[in-house]
Amino acid sequence: MTDQNIISRINELKQELNAIILVHNYQIGEVQEIADFLGDSLGLSRKAAGTDAEVIVFCGVHFMAETAAILAPEKTVLIPDPEAGCPMADMITAEELRVVKAEHPGAVVVAYVNSSAAVKAETDICCTSANAAEVVESIPADRDIIFVPDKYLGSYVQRTTGRKLILYPGYCPVHRKLMPEAIEEQKTLHPRALVMVHPECTPEVIDRADEVLSTSGMERLAPRSEYREFIVGTEVDMVTRLRRDNPGKRFYPASDLVVCPNMKKITLEKVLWSLEEKKYEVTVPEEIRKKALRAVNAMVRMGSGQ
Ligand code: 13P
Ligand code: SF4
Repeated sequence: MTDQNIISRINELKQELNAIILVHNYQIGEVQEIADFLGDSLGLSRKAAGTDAEVIVFCGVHFMAETAAILAPEKTVLIPDPEAGCPMADMITAEELRVVKAEHPGAVVVAYVNSSAAVKAETDICCTSANAAEVVESIPADRDIIFVPDKYLGSYVQRTTGRKLILYPGYCPVHRKLMPEAIEEQKTLHPRALVMVHPECTPEVIDRADEVLSTSGMERLAPRSEYREFIVGTEVDMVTRLRRDNPGKRFYPASDLVVCPNMKKITLEKVLWSLEEKKYEVTVPEEIRKKALRAVNAMVRMGSGQ
């Protein structure tokens, strides 16, 4: 089957099943092109919460599909590859979070959305990279805050808000591959470029950036900016999207090593099989879902995001 045949069949099945395809910015180019909505974690969560479709095919990693299932339990949420996980989300379990909570009684728990439903159920409010600072600033100044699982996003939020956070030692192994030397090298090669990086990067990388943004923040900034060239410090397929949407500008990956292998597991064929066989359904036990929903809803309502 050619790509064109696969896409035609996907479109037919979408009509038949009343399905919508939600796609994260790190998906491969072919999958980005079949998106009904292409975006960051916050935008995708909002879309999942608001859609009238009966079936959501989630082209992203498991925690993203799970967040859609938390928000839209009456819909069928499918992930085309059940093995597409997020190693950062796996760095903390609900049990581990309960231990941290016991050590800091009364602290407010903020969980990055890159976490399991069970962790979200133990959380007061979730955040994404787009609204983490706003979420932290919404918490009364006299309250302690536990921030899990991303220590780099957490330390960036500490920096921007001036709030002291109790950090957990999780991180994204993909963004950690981006070294400050790679940014320096790209700056030498492209001295007129604006450097934009994701807040999952290390503080040493963030120190060398002009802008620290979620993936959709990058997407919004690129066309509006007076800059014509950009060094992009995040997953390489973000550059695929930026180049497609801004043909008059130039985008350089800060490093070719920043590839999320889990995001790459989803292909056009797998999206088709997902629709054909209604697989793989992502569900969350009702008891956990109800608890997690409070934290996710609070996040979805918070701010416009960057
Ligand atoms: P965004 O919400 O910025 O798209 O990031 C999600 C993610 O997993 C980054 O690694
Ligand atoms: Fe998880 Fe990092 Fe991949 Fe994002 S890029 S999905 S945080 S492993």
